[in-house]
Amino acid sequence: MTKLKAGVIGAGGMGATHARGWMKAEGFELVAVADVDLPKAEALAEKYGAQAFGSVEALLSSGIEAVSVCLPSALHRSVSEEALQMGCHVLCEKPMALSVADCDAMIEAARIAGRRLSVAQVVRFFPEFANAHSLVQSGGVGKPAVVRTRRGGGFPGWSSWFGDEAQSGGILFDLAVHDLDWLLWTFGPVERVYAKGLTERGFERLDHALITLRHASGAISHTEVTWADPKGGGATFEIAGDAGLLAHDSRKEVSLSFRTETRTGSGRPLIPSDDPYDKQIAAFAHAILSGGPLAVTAEEGRSAVAVAAAARESLKTGRAIAL
Ligand SMILES: NC(=O)c1ccc[n+]([C@@H]2O[C@H](COP(=O)([O-])OP(=O)(O)OC[C@H]3O[C@@H](n4cnc5c(N)ncnc54)[C@H](O)[C@@H]3O)[C@@H](O)[C@H]2O)c1
Repeated sequence: MTKLKAGVIGAGGMGATHARGWMKAEGFELVAVADVDLPKAEALAEKYGAQAFGSVEALLSSGIEAVSVCLPSALHRSVSEEALQMGCHVLCEKPMALSVADCDAMIEAARIAGRRLSVAQVVRFFPEFANAHSLVQSGGVGKPAVVRTRRGGGFPGWSSWFGDEAQSGGILFDLAVHDLDWLLWTFGPVERVYAKGLTERGFERLDHALITLRHASGAISHTEVTWADPKGGGATFEIAGDAGLLAHDSRKEVSLSFRTETRTGSGRPLIPSDDPYDKQIAAFAHAILSGGPLAVTAEEGRSAVAVAAAARESLKTGRAIAL
């Protein structure tokens, strides 16, 4: 069977990860990589026998069918729209965009083009987060009441644009959006958002925020994110329901544990071959080929951006924001 042609736009850290994923995805071959920094595109393309381009336009004119957008986040909207208009299916890195209006424009562009648009909310593909989602959905902890997540590390200093809120959206859009998407996916729509953080005090790079969500179900979740903890990176969650407690700490050997009235248990579900980034590309590739549902819809990407935007408004005004 002829393979579909895939490309990657942006040859930075995530571009390299997506290129690897497309190489492994069934039914696709990676044929093109673009970056304004042409030598960077060439180095990545050479690794996989693909062609390198020095501009988005040149890559999109080369006849590819699916593309990953792995650019600084402020460019997600314009480049995704361009790719959709050229007839490509688009997997856009998170955050989908830096405003709800931009997300809406992208959704509309996909509708007009009749192409698939998904967002790389990769946390859904991390086994502990995927398992916890399934356990919650199947009633494993009863009715969820209180949820806590934490995600941290140092400032993403490999590229200067992360420190520019206009380019990255700051910690709320860049880091918290991972957990906001997972919380929405697992515990349902959010009615109210309240956030506190350092951003408004001028700590542009040493950022830290705490976001509290009230879900329509009545569950309360809070997510804490930090760029001020270079040695304490990792992700944790704790889910308390009326029938059990489920906890995860990525820094521990036994990373997932649960306790209900009748059972306790623990485990480490991640196996080395189970790479979440490869899995998300395989899932997108499969949805394109089968016409089946996307693992992450553009509307879901938009919802996570809407909550991040509400968190930013709350952080700036000191008020809780209703959605
Ligand atoms: N899912 C995750 O775990 C994860 C992790 C890191 C970053 N990200 C997201 O991935 C995206 C990319 O992040 P990154 O860490 O790869 O950034 P990066 O800075 O490493 O790479 C971005 C690349 O885009 C190129 N570029 C910039 N403007 C361009 C343009 N107009 N045309 C073509 N190329 C251009 C740069 O030269 C650079 O090589 C961001 O949206 C970020 O939020 C996701």
